[in-house]
Amino acid sequence: MLDCPGGASDFGARIRELGGRAVSADPQYALSPQELGRLVDGEQARVNAWVHAQPDRFGLRPGAPWPLAAAWRATAEGFLSDYRRCRTEGSGHYVSAALPALPFPDREFTLVISGFLLFSYTDRFDLDFHLSAVRELLRVCCGQVRLHPLNDSSGRPYPYMRKFLDILHGEGVTSRLLDVTSSSDPRDDRTLVLVPRTVTR
Ligand SMILES: C[S@@+](CC[C@H](N)C(=O)[O-])C[C@H]1O[C@@H](n2cnc3c(N)ncnc32)[C@H](O)[C@@H]1O
Repeated sequence: MLDCPGGASDFGARIRELGGRAVSADPQYALSPQELGRLVDGEQARVNAWVHAQPDRFGLRPGAPWPLAAAWRATAEGFLSDYRRCRTEGSGHYVSAALPALPFPDREFTLVISGFLLFSYTDRFDLDFHLSAVRELLRVCCGQVRLHPLNDSSGRPYPYMRKFLDILHGEGVTSRLLDVTSSSDPRDDRTLVLVPRTVTR
């Protein structure tokens, strides 16, 4: 599996614990474990403030802490300890790379997941970036690419989804929606599954 962007997620570590094979890619993996640790601390404070600024969206009671804060920290700690170990061992499980150009051969991964990058930052990434990025994820995939969530960081649906899908369908990519349950935002209830043209269906 490929997780891109991997960020401070422990997804890859957990897949490997279960006996699977997973690689995580993110431009921030150019950083040392110490630098990344400091970044994660800052990010935790930012996410906490962002969640508390939207109490209705995240079901917060007045004055109560964000119930998922401890789980977020535990995930980040799991990631950081695996990142430290993998960097020391040179395992290659964490690759510094940025979409839309990944340093992997065609059709390398059975499952490619990409969370909280595409569709999330419509202010930073235009439709052309989305298309180039997803074509690259499809290039390195011989099974499925899964993208989540389909709303931007304010919770609004990605406004160019129809056009985005029409263009990809025109290139032979097939798509379907998967119903999912989000532990943080109930509106993030769908994942987009894309199958590259070269995969026999
Ligand atoms: C909100 S985090 C999501 C990380 C992870 N998927 C998760 O759910 O925890 C967004 C990540 O995208 C990474 N990123 C930013 N630009 C990128 C690019 N062009 N290609 C790949 N990753 C990028 C950032 O470094 C950051 O780690």
